[in-house]
Amino acid sequence: MSIPFVEPFRIKVVEPIKMTTRAERELILLAAHNNVFSVKAEDVFIDLLTDSGTNAMSDAQWAGIMRGDESYAGAKSYFRFEEAVQDVLGFPYVLPTHQGRAAEGMLFKTLVKPGQVVPNNRHFDTTQANLLVLGARPVDLAVAEADDGVSLLPFKGNMDVQKLEAFINQVGAENIPIGMMTVTNNTAAGQPVSMENIRQTAAIYHAHGIPFFMDACRFTENAWFIKQREPGYQDKSVEEITREMFSYADGCTMSAKKDAIVNIGGFIAFRDEDLRLRIAQHLIVHEGFLTYGGLAGRDLEAIAVGLHEGVDEAYLAYRESHTRYLGECLQAAGLPVYLPTGGHAVYVDVGKALPHIPKLQFPGVALANMLYLEGGVRTSEIGSLMFEHQDPVTGEHLLAPVELLRFAIPRRVYTRSHLEYVGEVAAKVVAQKEQVRGIKITKAPAILRHFVAELDWV
Ligand code: F0G
Repeated sequence: MSIPFVEPFRIKVVEPIKMTTRAERELILLAAHNNVFSVKAEDVFIDLLTDSGTNAMSDAQWAGIMRGDESYAGAKSYFRFEEAVQDVLGFPYVLPTHQGRAAEGMLFKTLVKPGQVVPNNRHFDTTQANLLVLGARPVDLAVAEADDGVSLLPFKGNMDVQKLEAFINQVGAENIPIGMMTVTNNTAAGQPVSMENIRQTAAIYHAHGIPFFMDACRFTENAWFIKQREPGYQDKSVEEITREMFSYADGCTMSAKKDAIVNIGGFIAFRDEDLRLRIAQHLIVHEGFLTYGGLAGRDLEAIAVGLHEGVDEAYLAYRESHTRYLGECLQAAGLPVYLPTGGHAVYVDVGKALPHIPKLQFPGVALANMLYLEGGVRTSEIGSLMFEHQDPVTGEHLLAPVELLRFAIPRRVYTRSHLEYVGEVAAKVVAQKEQVRGIKITKAPAILRHFVAELDWV
């Protein structure tokens, strides 16, 4: 028997999980208005809703927690955190925030005015929402292959650099206060971006005088894929690749809840010293003082350790294989898996899995609900329930390009048999897919509605 991968850690603490019955889950989902975000975690058996903040920390991180310095200003923990960010990412300045969306919010409040435009390969939901609430316009310019889940191209997360250049010329660089790029591309099935594409994107932004920031949540996974797939990088270490990726950028926003392998935290890192005080005004009002920014000292310690663990190559090799293995289990179950599988999650093309359900009956949500009912597995829709919106400038009605269901994998949490169980549940759902009905919204707010919407079966 071949062993697909071996976890490069052993388990020191366990958290029991409890199986419910089908009859119980039917009542639970009904009480949650058919939205898995409203299901209690204790009623979920395998929770693949997100890889964000759901990670298992290491013994070294827990040791860091114990030495957290909780001083309001200038805590020792802040300086250890700052040193780790400088060391791993290479940016001289860093401001902590309580998580990634706060980093986005503080940066955009500082730089972006109503009516302005921010390009990205693809914005994630909170990045999009942070711009929409400012009356600005998030624009996605990913390569066309981003929506092709079949061809085995190495970097389907890339920016379409021709489109970017044309777009900047069309709207005018003076209307673009900042240019973004998301690594890996969470809304394009967790696909990586190549070093060449980062370099070209940076060159275009800079030629137009636009500051270039990366949405860096999953930068270590992106660096690992560059090492595996991009000519010329096989013999470079992930640490070297990471430093090179960021060397082209003026800064980044980071959700440490992803590749820094912690449960809470984020930051904005950058090169321009002046930006520090401009952002500081917003940070102090909304988050906290410059050396803790909405976090406890102990959280900063866990991030400092986790940033180094996130670039460990034995960990990243395991991470990639683990995710790919879930993809293989779901393919064996008969689901159309987006290939190649990404770093942090497996995405299923639900438009193909449930072709009888129209986009605005949210097939991704229908499949998510079926997986919960069948086996207590929680996943999340990355489709039109999440992304349908009106462009604030052009008024155009926009839907998600592809209806995806995401099986996100918390770091160092689930074993191979957990993944195999998810595959078995998926096979049972596939066997009854013709009977799956669409979903309608009964109550929802305008922005970020997927988190709180009340839903019903059509
Ligand atoms: N950017 C990207 C690409 C993300 O995936 C997320 C979060 C954020 C920014 C915001 O970070 O959650 O720390 O505020 N994504 C999570 C997910 C929630 O499930 O993909 P945050």
